Amino acid sequence: MAELVAVVAVARNGVIGANNGLPWRVSSDLKRFKSLTMGKPLILGRRTFTSLPQALPGRRIVVVTRDADFSSSDALVAYSPAEALRIARDVARDMGTDEVIIGGGSEIFRALLDETRRIELTEIALDTRGDAFFPEIDRAQWREVARENPTRGPRDEADFAFVTLERRRN
Ligand SMILES: NC(=O)c1ccc[n+]([C@@H]2O[C@H](COP(=O)([O-])OP(=O)(O)OC[C@H]3O[C@@H](n4cnc5c(N)ncnc54)[C@H](OP(=O)(O)O)[C@@H]3O)[C@@H](O)[C@H]2O)c1
Repeated sequence: MAELVAVVAVARNGVIGANNGLPWRVSSDLKRFKSLTMGKPLILGRRTFTSLPQALPGRRIVVVTRDADFSSSDALVAYSPAEALRIARDVARDMGTDEVIIGGGSEIFRALLDETRRIELTEIALDTRGDAFFPEIDRAQWREVARENPTRGPRDEADFAFVTLERRRN
C-alpha cells in the first residue's frame, strides 16, 4: 500500500501560510516540491488547491472539500481526508508509484498526520506572520534521516534547509 509523505515548507515559528498563500518566495523550495511530487498523487485541501497560481502537470490532484458543488477539471474530489486517501492510493497504483503526497494546507496536514510515514520538510529561516501553521509534531516519534543546507540562490528570499523526517517504527 502506498505510503503517505507530507511535503511542507515551515517557518521557524511554525507558519506555513498567510492570506491563503505562501508568505515567502523561495524558488529552490518550489523546485524541490516539483521533484518530490512529480508522477505522484497529491492530496490538497480545497483552500490550498484554489490558491495555486497554476496547474501542476504530472501530478494527479485529489482535493478535499465539504462542498458537494465543488468540481474541477484539474482534480478528483473527495469529501473527507479518509476518502481522499482511498482515492489517492488507487491513483498511486495506476501511476505505478508507492507514495501518496500530502501537500497541505494546515487542516489537511493535521487530519492525515497520524498516517504520515515521512515528512519532507523545508525549514525556512524566517519568523513570519501567518494564519496557517504546521501541526506540532512530537520529535520523539520522528527520526531525522537527511539534512541539506543548500546555498541560497538569487530567487530565494530566505535561507533554508531541506530535511527528511521518518516516523520511528515502534
Ligand atoms: N508552506 C507550505 O508548504 C504550504 C503547503 C500547502 C498550503 N500552504 C498554505 O496553507 C494555507 C491553507 O491551509 P488551510 O488549513 O487554511 O486550508 P486547506 O487545508 O488547504 O483546506 C481547507 C479546506 O479543506 C476542506 N476540508 C478540511 N477538512 C475537511 C474534512 N474533514 N472533510 C472534508 N473537507 C475538509 C475544506 O474545504 P471546503 O471549505 O471547500 O469545504 C476546508 O476549508 C494557505 O496559506 C496555503 O498557502 C502552505
